[in-house]
Amino acid sequence: SEKQDLSGRRILISAGGTREPIDPVRYIGNRSSGKMGYALAEEAARRGADVSLISGQTSLTAPACVNIIKVETAKQMQCRIEEKFPDSEIIIMAAAVADYRVEDIADQKIKKTAETLTITLRKNPDILFSLGQKKKNGQFLVGFAAETQKLLAFAQDKLERKNLDMIIANDVSKKNAGFNTDTNIVKIITKDKNVEDVPLMTKTALASVILDRIILYFDR
Ligand code: PMT
Repeated sequence: SEKQDLSGRRILISAGGTREPIDPVRYIGNRSSGKMGYALAEEAARRGADVSLISGQTSLTAPACVNIIKVETAKQMQCRIEEKFPDSEIIIMAAAVADYRVEDIADQKIKKTAETLTITLRKNPDILFSLGQKKKNGQFLVGFAAETQKLLAFAQDKLERKNLDMIIANDVSKKNAGFNTDTNIVKIITKDKNVEDVPLMTKTALASVILDRIILYFDR
């Protein structure tokens, strides 16, 4: 039988990539498939948690027994996450949130007349940063860091700057790791600067390891 070590725990998970519209038919997106976040949601629900999954666009089907809310843009994701945040004990941000959105979304489809086209981007809110500011005792905040260089240094900087309890450092330049793969390779870094190298494994297996580590630290 399955372990029910997350029984009744209220867990909030984000997954997938956001889409930032350019005009009615185009958007700026990223390569996140949602697999990592969905694996975490599925595994947490299997272990008895009360899971809310805030999901960007993906082709995955919603895991069983998970309360799923689908969003498109970073601002929509922020709104739905902030609604659920005060009532959540464990929060895991696996989503690839767009750092910038299109400043002026065109009302009509942009015609291909000019030889060059300039689109001005405006910085999006950093959802995880604002959660770190609002975090209360009894809330455990986990971020991801997708990096192509200086993995440990950049991830550690995000952990501190965003006031996280744990960060999952993801070298997305590695083969079979990161965006749109069934497997991943990560480092789990905690607030007390413990670094654990997690070797190549499926995102489902990794989800289980991440939840094991969260339980270990959350219950302290
Ligand atoms: O979905 P898959 O195809 O399975 O791929 C998994 C993944 C590579 C997307 C996942 O493992 C991952 O690394 N997710 C985080 C991707 C990311 O956007 O990382 P970042 O280093 O840019 O952001 C750091 C953290 O801040 C993340 O937890 C991110 O969710 C959060 N963030 C970022 C920007 C922003 N505006 N708001 C945020 O909350």
